[in-house]
Parts: sequence; structure tokens; C-alpha cells
Amino acid sequence: MIVAIDGPAGSGKSSTARAVARRLGFHHLDSGAFYRTLTLAALRAGIPAESWPRLGPDDLEGLAVSARPADRGYRFFVAGEDVTEEIRAPEVNAHVSRMARIRAVRQWLLAQLRRAAEGQDLVADGRDMGTVVFPHADLKIFLTASPETRARRRLAERDITDPDPDTLRAETERLLERDRIDSEREVAPLRRADNAVLIDTTGLGFAEQVDRVVQLIEARRRSGPGRLGD
Ligand code: CDP
Repeated sequence: MIVAIDGPAGSGKSSTARAVARRLGFHHLDSGAFYRTLTLAALRAGIPAESWPRLGPDDLEGLAVSARPADRGYRFFVAGEDVTEEIRAPEVNAHVSRMARIRAVRQWLLAQLRRAAEGQDLVADGRDMGTVVFPHADLKIFLTASPETRARRRLAERDITDPDPDTLRAETERLLERDRIDSEREVAPLRRADNAVLIDTTGLGFAEQVDRVVQLIEARRRSGPGRLGD
């Protein structure tokens, strides 16, 4: 079974997908982490963002990024070094959408992302899981929340639980700018697939959010085989 979860920055897709995968014994594919790892590798290699659109498959290979299955998900590496935590750094947040809008980059990752689904139940999260990577997923979910809620959650991840108005505004603007680039790009823009179930998590706690998704998966399982989007 393939479950595709898409949505804007900070909507809680990855943490929800991880928790759902643990609960149901599925694997978790955090597709954003692949874009983040490439971004970190390019930054480390000192390649200026202005020249990223000219990166070809050989250059991408040369960045020496890899993903290895671990604990129902993946760990991410640059030149053999585990960067799974470092790819969440603000510097990567600020640049990742510029990497992700490049056609050659998306093309290069597509086969790798699809391979992750072979022979296993999968919860995949990102921006184009239900629209491009897994258009025939068994269940598609679009998670969203108000910009302020998303900014508060992002800050809380960095232990800023009661932000002052300037901090909150700056974080909200950063998220909205990333959403703008992700939604307006030509290739695989962020959008809700026609047959995706919309969940607005603005008023939901994390446990409730996970429960909703688990319930949808269980209902989908009960309704038997037959894929969406045919
Ligand atoms: O966790 P958060 O929502 O902040 O972002 P993420 O899922 O880690 O994705 C980081 C960035 O990668 C996004 O802002 C997109 O630019 C890009 N991305 C994408 O283009 N397509 C995907 N399927 C997943 C991520």
C-alpha cells in the first residue's frame, strides 16, 4: 500500500508520516530530506545557488549524496558523513526550494524515490507525492494549517515556545516564501491532487492528526484493492 501525504512547509507532514509508519509498520519516505541533502552538499561544495540550474546528472552524482534505509526510514549522507540532523539547519531551509525547482534535479531523484516503494508498504511525504511520484497511490492526503500555526510549530522544534511578534512574523514570512516558490514553479508544483483528502490541522493536536491519518488508512484497507487516479 502507498500513502502519499503532501502539503506546505511546516504542516507536519514528515512528523505525521513518521508516526503513522511506526504505528502501522510501514516504511517512511521523507522526500524533502532528499532535496535537503542535495542542497547541503551543494552548499558545502561552495557551488553558488545562481549556478544550480546548470547542474547536470554528472554534477549531481559528483555531490556524493546517498540515502540508506534505517529504522523504517532513511539516514542521509554526504561523502559518507551522516547529515540526517544537519539537513534541518536554517541555511538549508533558506536554499532548498531553489534546488527543488530544477527540472534535472527532480528527474534525477524520481527513480530513486519510486524505488523506495518497491515491495513494501510506504508512507511518503512531500510536495508532489500524490501528483507526480505516486499518482496511483492507494490513499492521498493533503495536510495544511494556517501560516501562523505552521510558524509556531517550526519555532517550537527549535525550543522557541513563546515567540515574540517579530520572531513569529519573520518565521511566517520564511515559510510563505518557500510555499510561493514551491507552488509557482513549473515542474511538479505544490498542489493538492484532485483525489486527495484535505486535513486542516490548525486546531488539531499532534496525536489527533496522527489518529486521523491512521483512520483513513484503515478505512482504505477495509475498502479493498483498487487504486486511485486510474
Ligand atoms: O518539512 P518542511 O515542510 O519544511 O519541508 P520538507 O518536506 O523537508 O521539504 C523541503 C523542501 O524540499 C520543500 O520546500 C520543497 O522545495 C522541496 N520538496 C519538493 O520540492 N518536493 C517534495 N516532494 C518534497 C520537498
